Amino acid sequence: MLEQLQIILSEAIAEISKATSLEDLDNLRVSYLGKKGRLTLAAGKMKDLSKEERPNAGKKLNETRSKITQSLEEKINHFQQIEDSKERQSLDPTLPSNPIASIGRHPISQMLDQAIKALRRMGFSLASGPEIETEWHCFDALNTPQDHPARNESDTFYFDDGKLLRTHTSTIQIRTMENTKPPVRIIAPGAAYRRDEIDATHLSQFNQLEGLYVDKDVSLADLKGTLEYLLQNIFGKETPVRFRPHFFPFTEPSFEIDILLDVEGKKSKWIEIAGCGMVDPDVFNEICKARNDDSYSPEKVSGFAFGLGLERLAMIKWGISDIRLLIENDLRFLGQF
Ligand code: DAH
Repeated sequence: MLEQLQIILSEAIAEISKATSLEDLDNLRVSYLGKKGRLTLAAGKMKDLSKEERPNAGKKLNETRSKITQSLEEKINHFQQIEDSKERQSLDPTLPSNPIASIGRHPISQMLDQAIKALRRMGFSLASGPEIETEWHCFDALNTPQDHPARNESDTFYFDDGKLLRTHTSTIQIRTMENTKPPVRIIAPGAAYRRDEIDATHLSQFNQLEGLYVDKDVSLADLKGTLEYLLQNIFGKETPVRFRPHFFPFTEPSFEIDILLDVEGKKSKWIEIAGCGMVDPDVFNEICKARNDDSYSPEKVSGFAFGLGLERLAMIKWGISDIRLLIENDLRFLGQF
């Protein structure tokens, strides 16, 4: 038995060294180590040996198997290296690559870029704030009463510690005034969250753009001029803009802004596009308390604020009928803008 194993081993090693392809090696593996391979058959003869002979023969058998396996692996590696280097030689790194589909900026980003550009021209600068907010920044400081429906658990995502996902970017007005003395003139884009059922006009996460201007003697005329300029910059110079009285807890007076839009083949239509108003004195008073100074005293300053939804803006501008298209990342859709 021991002699036979020795013969099998030396023949295997000789054949492996002569192999010229991976296929040869695979055949050798089968003919030595396979189910009916020579080594397997030899192992089957173990049972014919005496008790005394068995341990030694078993040891030799294992040694032989591992030597053959090792020799096969070394040779396989050798062939693979040759193949890899062949592949590398045939690779021309100077060839131009396949073109990456270039589809331009996402409609929401385009809308945002355009709004920022127009507002920058009027002296606004960018501000930001956290998406996880305190109730005070999201509601109390914005003069929103405890029983306001927006504060409901069914409308707002709350965390166990009482914090929440901001329901609007108006929180950034508060954060900015807390930390900066007037005058302030900021635009604050960002995500907002509401527990809305997702459908053609609602997402639970969407994008807003908030604006705030506080200084001495800021007037309603400033508000109208700024927003008319912004909206006509986006929708066309001749687009009629109208301010319709409305209610927001944080502004007084408050307005909704509509633009008159041509609908192909039909009568043009007024479409609601943003909320705005003059900052409510209660908001200024709350800021004075938080800052522990009177720099935002309603006796000293006045201001306007506005907020608009970027998805809505894009949908109106390009006639997009379903808001979900804006988050699906379908290149056939995105390629159209
Ligand atoms: N925060 C409002 C909303 O999410 C939008 C808004 C309305 C913002 C009027 C304002 C404003 O700053 O003055 O619906």
